[in-house]
Amino acid sequence: MTTLRLPGLADPHVHVRGLGQRHKEDFASCTRAALAGGFTTILAMPNTKPAIVAEPALREYQAEARVEAHCDYGFHLGATEDNAGEVARLAPLSTGLKLYLDPTFGDLKLQKLTALVEHAATFPKHVPILAHAEEHSLASAMLVAHLAGRPIHICHVSRKVEIELVARAKDKGFDVTCEVCPHHLFLDEHGHGLPAGFCEVRPVIGTKEDVRALWQNLDAIDCFATDHAPHTRAEKSSDKPPPGFPGLETALPLFLTAVHEGKLTIADVEARMALNVRRIFSLPVQDDTYIEIDPDEAHVFEAARGESRAGWNPFEGVPLRGRVLRVVLRGKEAYAGGRIVGAPGDGRDVRGGTP
Ligand code: NCD
Ligand code: ZN
Repeated sequence: MTTLRLPGLADPHVHVRGLGQRHKEDFASCTRAALAGGFTTILAMPNTKPAIVAEPALREYQAEARVEAHCDYGFHLGATEDNAGEVARLAPLSTGLKLYLDPTFGDLKLQKLTALVEHAATFPKHVPILAHAEEHSLASAMLVAHLAGRPIHICHVSRKVEIELVARAKDKGFDVTCEVCPHHLFLDEHGHGLPAGFCEVRPVIGTKEDVRALWQNLDAIDCFATDHAPHTRAEKSSDKPPPGFPGLETALPLFLTAVHEGKLTIADVEARMALNVRRIFSLPVQDDTYIEIDPDEAHVFEAARGESRAGWNPFEGVPLRGRVLRVVLRGKEAYAGGRIVGAPGDGRDVRGGTP
């Protein structure tokens, strides 16, 4: 058996849930899933219940995370039509400002272009804004950020036209970065084999052509983000299935499988799942923190034995090569031998958690 040591992974896009949606996931279950997947830092999305769009809600989630988290975490704030001043003030406590420009789970979608323009102008320029921006919204978000002279990070890019636009904007010197999710790289609309409800995700799974274009534009992809978005089996089987896939526990094995198949190198994975994420979101150094992996071990993920409360996974039953053996966080073993060995509360807020 070969053992490789990598830096602790960082995921810029995780729906931790908690508070009003603890039945889907909470900081304990989510950070346990993170560790099992090799992540030592996760950045939490604000489309929660209540949404993280003002200080009182942020404080409530900080309090939950402080006692429950097994790995480090940060909070992205949510933009609304009228909270530009409030989120700019809270920026030092956050890892970014998320703008929802297209419909998805939750009700944070921004309706007016003026809101995008105002947030881009007001949010501190050294903290990224992140956008869920598909199709026309993508062009609009990149242009507005460029005109405001500020960085923008495009979430879960999924289409050919989108990744090509991002690549061209980068060539032209736009301060734009982007992430792509495992489900958009490893599944296509015809081949996913997932039942109705369970295949619902935003952005939707792409065509074969979209998937090919993402792989062809690997150089333009800064991060592999899971967009871990847990919903229960009952919710996914209902008449109104919410969009979202759990992803923290299967992301690294999927990318290691791609390494095994010669589609990626370990350096490609390390850059997109650790180094670039840490740079883009200015994450603090985690001393004496690393993961040990077996890059070759053949296995199949069983969601019933996983840590996420979702209890299902779109990649269940898929033959995988490569897995996490051990995670060390600040010199302390956090995960080993398939078990969480660290304690809730071991995780820290990457921004310190206090004003
Ligand atoms: C996410 C969720 O469930 O919170 N769902 C999804 O399909 N990706 C929301 C989001 O990231 O758009
Ligand atoms: Zn998301």
